[in-house]
Amino acid sequence: MPKINVYTNIDEVEREAKKDLIDRHSPFITVEGVAKKGEMLSVNVKMGNEYTHPDDFDHYIESITLFNGDTKLASASFVPGTLGNEKSHAEVTFNIRPMGKKLNLVAHGYCTKHGIWESTPVVVEVTE
Ligand SMILES: [Fe+2]
Repeated sequence: MPKINVYTNIDEVEREAKKDLIDRHSPFITVEGVAKKGEMLSVNVKMGNEYTHPDDFDHYIESITLFNGDTKLASASFVPGTLGNEKSHAEVTFNIRPMGKKLNLVAHGYCTKHGIWESTPVVVEVTE
C-alpha cells in the first residue's frame, strides 16, 4: 500500500528540493464554469503547478483519480511515454454530472516511485 501524502502549501516550505518534490507530485483541481444539477461539468486535474515531473520508464505519474468525498468518480491511467519521456505535467479533464447540492472534490495522483499524493479539497456548490 503506497503512502498517501497530503498537499502542503509550498510557500511555507524553505528547501527548494522539498518544494519541487511536493509541487510536482500534487494534483491541482480546476472546475470550469458553474456547476448545475444534472448538467455536465468539466473538472481538470493537473499534476504540479510550478514544477514538472519525470516521464521515465521507472518513474512516472501512473494515474490520476477524482473523488467526490468518499466516492470515486473517475480515474485516468498513463504509461511511461504518454508525455514523450520528458518532464511535464500529467493532466486530464473529467466530465462529470453533479446530482447533489454540492461536490467535495479531491484528487489523487500516483507516482510509481513516490506514492499517492492528495490534492487540497475543492468544494463546489451545485445550483438547481
Ligand atoms: Fe515521483
